[in-house]
Amino acid sequence: MQDLVLSGVKPTSIPHLGNYIGALKYWVELQHTYRCAFMIADLHAITVPQNPAELRARTIDTAAMYFAVGILPERCFVFVQSEVPQHAELGWILGTIAKMGEMERMTQFKDKSAKEGRERSGIGLFTYPALMAADILMYDTTAVPVGEDQLQHLELTRTLAQRFNTHFGPTFNVPEALIQKHGARIMSLAHPDRKMSKSDVAKNGTIFLDDDTDTIRHKISRAVTDSGSTITFDPIERPALANLMTIYHHMTGKTMPEIEQLFAGKGFGDFKKELAEVTINHLGPIRHRLLEFRKDPSELMTLLNKGRDQAQKLAEQKMTLVRDRVGLGRA
Ligand code: TYM
Repeated sequence: MQDLVLSGVKPTSIPHLGNYIGALKYWVELQHTYRCAFMIADLHAITVPQNPAELRARTIDTAAMYFAVGILPERCFVFVQSEVPQHAELGWILGTIAKMGEMERMTQFKDKSAKEGRERSGIGLFTYPALMAADILMYDTTAVPVGEDQLQHLELTRTLAQRFNTHFGPTFNVPEALIQKHGARIMSLAHPDRKMSKSDVAKNGTIFLDDDTDTIRHKISRAVTDSGSTITFDPIERPALANLMTIYHHMTGKTMPEIEQLFAGKGFGDFKKELAEVTINHLGPIRHRLLEFRKDPSELMTLLNKGRDQAQKLAEQKMTLVRDRVGLGRA
């Protein structure tokens, strides 16, 4: 079996720098080694309320962003999750073998349901990991590059694959998570104790990939730093600076010792100014390509049609086997 990488982002906003460093940028590297499938997880997006017109626009924008960051259509297929209905079907089936207890232990569910109150949270938020497992298991995925926050869902995916295989016979490959050394958890610029997220209430905490130059400069200039004045990498004692240095590392490719050397004798002010410039330089071309896709989405639509067709073909092959194993439908 040829190795396959699969991953996805929810189109709940334009992807942010955390999504980029934790996921998208990593995907671009991996595509040279693996066959790849990348989805826009719109079915997962609706586990919290969405405005329909905005959701559709962000689904297209998120797809455009995949190609804007450098995903190559000749190496990867990119598709919209809801356009391959087999995902929802397999999500349902996996939901029937998942246990209440293991779903209740998912920290993402605990965090998100705490916001609305558990009683008022949608069931989709609860069954989210079963659908995510379906996305992954559908294509015999071998490796799943994700940020740290998704590791628990990956563990559950492995459990469900093994459980299904034991009950019904060998059907799914058991996938591995792929996590980067630095950047698997980018923190908010405003609250370095919280991860950077789409829903951060602090407006300056999250850099979105379509932020313009002035906005990026402003957000980085406002970034919280720790006490002390030297630029040294110490995630335990100085987590805010370590976060900014991780961003610098990803924007330039420089190692932590190289960054420390570059800023020896300099202070936070110099470092933040330089960080803003390298971020603007790195994200500028990505934003430019996104705007091009927005102006003329025809090429994007062709790529998404192709991705959908390929995903549907593979998904139907897998579902034929799954339905047979479970005993669904007529012989
Ligand atoms: P989403 O949209 O919440 O996150 C997309 C990816 O970005 C990573 N990420 C981060 N990485 C580093 N620092 C951060 N602050 C940060 N915030 C987010 C996430 O870990 C993720 O890799 N459930 C998935 C979507 C999904 C999926 C899948 C992923 C649906 N089906 C199948 C892999 C395979 C999610 O968290 O989306």
